Amino acid sequence: MLKKIIPLEKTKLQRFPITKDKTLKAWNAADEHLLEWINENPLKQDDKSLIINDQFGALSCSLSEFQPTYWTDSYLSKTAIQNNLNANSLNQKLQHINQCEQQLAGGIKFDWVIIRIPKHNSLLSFQLKSLLPFIHRDTVILSAGMSKDIHKSNLKLFESIIGKTTTSLAKKKARLIFSKFDHLTTQSLNQNLLIDSACQFQIKQSGLNVIGLPGVFSRDSLDIGSNVLLQYMPETKASQKLLDLGCGTGVLGTIAAKQNPKLEVTFTDESWLAVESAKMTFQENISQIPLTKVTDVLDGLTNNHYDHILCNPPFHQQNVQTLSIANRMFKESSKKLKNSGELRIVANRHLKYKPMLNQYFSQVQVISKDPKFVVWLAKKPKR
Ligand SMILES: C[S@@+](CC[C@H](N)C(=O)[O-])C[C@H]1O[C@@H](n2cnc3c(N)ncnc32)[C@H](O)[C@@H]1O
Repeated sequence: MLKKIIPLEKTKLQRFPITKDKTLKAWNAADEHLLEWINENPLKQDDKSLIINDQFGALSCSLSEFQPTYWTDSYLSKTAIQNNLNANSLNQKLQHINQCEQQLAGGIKFDWVIIRIPKHNSLLSFQLKSLLPFIHRDTVILSAGMSKDIHKSNLKLFESIIGKTTTSLAKKKARLIFSKFDHLTTQSLNQNLLIDSACQFQIKQSGLNVIGLPGVFSRDSLDIGSNVLLQYMPETKASQKLLDLGCGTGVLGTIAAKQNPKLEVTFTDESWLAVESAKMTFQENISQIPLTKVTDVLDGLTNNHYDHILCNPPFHQQNVQTLSIANRMFKESSKKLKNSGELRIVANRHLKYKPMLNQYFSQVQVISKDPKFVVWLAKKPKR
């Protein structure tokens, strides 16, 4: 049967986590612009394609008949893509990767690479460099983003890593980027690319070395909120269990372990690169391998034996402000803590977390004096 592109309007797409807010769509003008261009310049039947940073599955679903491989670092995006493929009874056997080097078959070359520009240039740079062994001189490298998110610095990366780069006119405030791979030879695999793309900084007071992989929150300096939380860390006892929820580079959990090396620390985040960073930060400072899980909030963590949970919650999903992830973090924390367990969170003063925390904990108090950030201590989880 002839493979075809499935029009966006023929698919029913939902964001993940599912939201009741009807103004939040699971695709935007950048996806539409990409798919319009691909419709006019379609893939050949046997073309191999790679989709990078698809947010909720608009691209993967529309191109599913061509069996694209999709690369996302986000567990939330991966779940959205899988849910939407299932819900639309589309090809459900698409390969997901979160790195190229170890996960792609040796020798594979993509004819198409379709990229949604990520928020962080460090991630874009890492992704473009990772691609080099897997493209050929005629690979179509087509990227898109909202015009406000496309900067000269993005285009410079395409120029320097891939080759000649041009852009389209804006349509509904989204633009396409076309790049032509023009290096003389294709590059060989660099198994050290991930390490080479990491940056490292030191926290003076504790002597902690933090390792930040591409795209990870505050990968090259300590976040000011986290810095406030570090002044109100729990006093832990030997062999207690601590969870660093939404761990990013792992700075909070690693400092706790530095203060008490017998502490059992678990790191969770929805980003593979974040969890990998946390693992590296921990190994660098504590010389042990921590427990880790890439997941949405605390999904799939079966233990409810934690003595302490530390969290600097996100209040954005991609570009949209939301308190719902923080709300779920508090709710799930209350289930995973022991009765005597404690949740410490840091937040901007303007964020209205108190009513949310009160829903899940019987004792909620502010323990900080910072003018900009609040550290909340929540005890006595309500079951
Ligand atoms: C404000 S950052 C804090 C990072 C780190 N704890 C620190 O203090 O530097 C929030 C983190 O939550 C993660 N995150 C966002 N949504 C999540 C979700 N649904 N489940 C788990 N982690 C999530 C982000 O990837 C990010 O690393």
